[in-house]
Amino acid sequence: MKKITKAVFPVAGLGSRFLPATKATAKEMLPVVDKPLIQYAVEEAVAAGITDMVFITGRHKRAIEDHFDKAYELEATLEAANKTELLRIVQEVVPKHVNCIYIRQAEPLGLGHAVLCAQPIVQDEPFAVILADDLMEGNIPIMMQMVEVFNQHHCSVLAVQEVPREHTKSYGIVSASNMAPNIEKIHGIVEKPKPEDAPSNLAVVGRYILTPRIFHHLQQINPGAGGEIQLTDGIAALMQYESLLAYRYDGVRYDCGSKLGYLKAQVMYGLKHKELSADFAEFLKSL
Ligand code: UTP
Repeated sequence: MKKITKAVFPVAGLGSRFLPATKATAKEMLPVVDKPLIQYAVEEAVAAGITDMVFITGRHKRAIEDHFDKAYELEATLEAANKTELLRIVQEVVPKHVNCIYIRQAEPLGLGHAVLCAQPIVQDEPFAVILADDLMEGNIPIMMQMVEVFNQHHCSVLAVQEVPREHTKSYGIVSASNMAPNIEKIHGIVEKPKPEDAPSNLAVVGRYILTPRIFHHLQQINPGAGGEIQLTDGIAALMQYESLLAYRYDGVRYDCGSKLGYLKAQVMYGLKHKELSADFAEFLKSL
């Protein structure tokens, strides 16, 4: 079985829940303390041994491309001012062995369509999908945990977590049966079911490892919930032909696609930031 060397980052969504902040920039460029969400996501992929980062960009392409590009003028200015620590931070945004590849999704036709846009680069290899607006942290980075599951079981792996029943309408929800500690075999998956229709409260979150057969199914499916081509529908079709695993990841997730989740992430990352933690904790106590 092939190694996971490519990660797809769909970053072409409208980010409408964050308007007006996302009017002229991508939601994935919003910072948590001092780093944009997309950089946390790329760092997680690098930690998992992934070397090719495939960004599916939309109308906000420039900021993301510029972020991962060399910034000659900025570097020269920092060097001239002897700001060596800042220079190091700027130069280390992406390690030298990592390739960044950009594909434009002309219209935001849905997450499934965004993933399909990566087919010319991914071709016939299994690959990771990382949604940067789900900021996830664990002692072992979450995608690294998932690559380990993939290497053992050689099939698609979806990160899942239990959510309150009333939240099922915000997620893809799986029905699954226990297979190994933290690993379940998926029997069914539905996009955004009402609580009364949901087969369980096990929700798919923004980390996937998919086999390349998914592209075949994404090409076939028609727009689903919300008029978008849903990744969930492609996964449901894939399940008819291949095993699919749900993995209960070991870590914490902040839903930075929502304002509340984003604020929680700011607080938690602020509290452990090496320059800020003590002062920030004191400020929070004083409230
Ligand atoms: P979301 O539905 O959470 O993102 O898609 P959104 O549409 O940008 O946000 P809201 O709901 O309007 O606030 C999940 C991920 O899929 C990407 C988004 O960028 C996000 O990372 N996406 C979604 C695409 O790349 N293309 C699409 O057509 C849709």
